[in-house]
Amino acid sequence: MKIDKFDGKKIRSQFPFLSRKINNKPLIYLDSAASSQKPKQVLDHLLNTYSYGYANIHRGLHTLSEEATDAYEDVRAKIARFINARSPDEVIFTSGATMSINLIANSYGLSRLQPNDEILITVAEHHANIIPWQLLCEKTGAKIVAVPVGEDGCFYLKDLKERVTKNTKIISFPHVSNVLGTVFPIKEISDIAHENDAICIIDGCQGVIHMPVDIQEIGCDFYVFSAHKLYGPSGIGVCWGKAEILADMPPFMGGGDMIDDVEIHTATYAQVPSRFEAGTPPIAECIAFGAAIDFVQEIGMEAIASHEKSLLSYGHQRLASVKGLSFVGTAPEKSGVISFTLDAAHPHDISTLIDQDGIAIRAGHHCAQPLMKFLNLTSTARASVAVYTEPEDFDALAISLEKVNRIFGD
Ligand code: ALA
Repeated sequence: MKIDKFDGKKIRSQFPFLSRKINNKPLIYLDSAASSQKPKQVLDHLLNTYSYGYANIHRGLHTLSEEATDAYEDVRAKIARFINARSPDEVIFTSGATMSINLIANSYGLSRLQPNDEILITVAEHHANIIPWQLLCEKTGAKIVAVPVGEDGCFYLKDLKERVTKNTKIISFPHVSNVLGTVFPIKEISDIAHENDAICIIDGCQGVIHMPVDIQEIGCDFYVFSAHKLYGPSGIGVCWGKAEILADMPPFMGGGDMIDDVEIHTATYAQVPSRFEAGTPPIAECIAFGAAIDFVQEIGMEAIASHEKSLLSYGHQRLASVKGLSFVGTAPEKSGVISFTLDAAHPHDISTLIDQDGIAIRAGHHCAQPLMKFLNLTSTARASVAVYTEPEDFDALAISLEKVNRIFGD
């Protein structure tokens, strides 16, 4: 598939899931922020690798193992180019963004943090960027400091600057909020971290799927993301880190493939990235992840960003006409998601009812309970976009929400 400019019809033709009917209606999938659907070339790579190209990597001296190893390492190099890393060795494969943050917390954090050191996160964090730090704080005596966002979802750098102290050692922020859609000024956040001798970690799960990412331009120290939101398989993700920081980090998990020499009581460890990749990884999934990167690059991340920006703008405009609907998160720089509540119905009821019309959204706290509490909400409904989303999907959502209003309204 070669796409010269954004050709929605051609792109949609690559996604088998679009032939699905739910409750006899064509499926409208507005839950890509939770996990995206997969194009044919990703599915083909998965099937072909398992069918004809599968063996364990880094271990065999036979053709199949060498082929699988080359294909796996090619994906590492592809990802390095995709995010403009200086070297493929800076790309560590993990099971996903959650494991990536746990790796950083348990390796970098545990070896460096002292009592009263501070880790700055936002109130809008996904639990994956909260709990690993809580666990680290229990072990080290460090503290979490939460930076607020405005009630409209806007983020102000002054709120970060006011909370940075000489004890700040880690600033770990989202690229894009999975609930509010707010795009955080991550270059400026990185600069603030470095001016204060802290490191900057970016949870890029909801960022890298919607816009070009150049980690050298951002200047952060770590950028993590999952394949399953980027049209790739689940079970594989990335922890990108600066080589000089990774070089000094101890292993997080022990096992095969991460060692240099092993005695019964001691061991020396492999260089980065192997040091952080203990055990057999999801090999076919990683190779198919490479196909997902090819897929988005064939469209172009700029083209995806611009298409999704128009979609989001249309979505807001269309949903604004629904009676009793309030948006949650209206920052001017927004990407990927539209969270909302309806006066007439609870988000769980909304989601269940519109499923009757074949429409899939997410409803709940979105793994961001502190944000819900901060906003005095228990949950929201959330529609999210991807390359296969069309403006008509928002027309259908608006019509279905009006039905919910008729069922629940007085
Ligand atoms: N982090 C995913 C979401 O926001 C699961 O839905």
